Amino acid sequence: SAPAPAELLTIAIDVARQAAATAYRMRAEGVSVAATKSTVTDVVTAADRAVERQVLDALHRVRPDDAVLGEEYGAGAADGAVSGVRWIVDPIDGTVNYLYGLPYCAVSLAAEVDGEVVAGVVRNLVTGEEWTATAGGGAWRDGQRLRCSTEVDLGQALVATGFGYDPARRSHQARVIAELIPHVRDIRRLGAAALDLCLAAEGRVDAYYEKGLAAWDQAAGGLVAAEAGLRVAGLGGLPAGPDLVIAAPPALFAPLHDRLADLDASGGP
Ligand code: IPD
Repeated sequence: SAPAPAELLTIAIDVARQAAATAYRMRAEGVSVAATKSTVTDVVTAADRAVERQVLDALHRVRPDDAVLGEEYGAGAADGAVSGVRWIVDPIDGTVNYLYGLPYCAVSLAAEVDGEVVAGVVRNLVTGEEWTATAGGGAWRDGQRLRCSTEVDLGQALVATGFGYDPARRSHQARVIAELIPHVRDIRRLGAAALDLCLAAEGRVDAYYEKGLAAWDQAAGGLVAAEAGLRVAGLGGLPAGPDLVIAAPPALFAPLHDRLADLDASGGP
């Protein structure tokens, strides 16, 4: 049988701390772009690759029968997985911030059992802030239990979001923002989805939404947000996914959801 979420979280924290230390050290030594992915601005640094490799190796040492899904190496490490556990790794979420030396980038590591995320850690690799959650066990930042903000009107909400790399998608996302911004306090585009979800979990922003996220962007942060009491879902009762992730306190979820549905936030390329 699969290990308890708390046991997986202990492993995740240990591995994420080592990974964050490597990424931080490599940042200090100077960053360069190793390759580009979907567009010229969708970059991979040597650190993205080295950190993911380190995470895969560390997980393999302690949990050799688990599958791994990683941003840079895909599902390559999943071969032979038989345990029912799958790890989801974003070695550096907020790669562009990392490249520019902005202190808003993180290692994100989540563990799924039979397809459900049960443990997750997001560690800001510059500030050392660390968010953790287990399914049913609550969300925490540096040992403090998190509960989401309550009673926020959409008109007073600080809403975080992000943009994909594809130009056509960005244009659609910009049109959505143009219509949303008169109806909220303000918008933040901070640059790392995993951290955005964690900030929403503790009310440092009121809500977050984004279209086009991959599993590694949202797995750990999504659990942190949900365990802090936010509703994390897509449009029209769909689960959160690549079409749209909305994370908001229960009272704010419906108004934000309905506005985003009106604006076709999950549409476009
Ligand atoms: C990106 C960041 C960004 C979000 C993008 C993601 P990456 O991840 O999370 O905030 O808006 O959708 O792709 O490329 O930095 O790992």
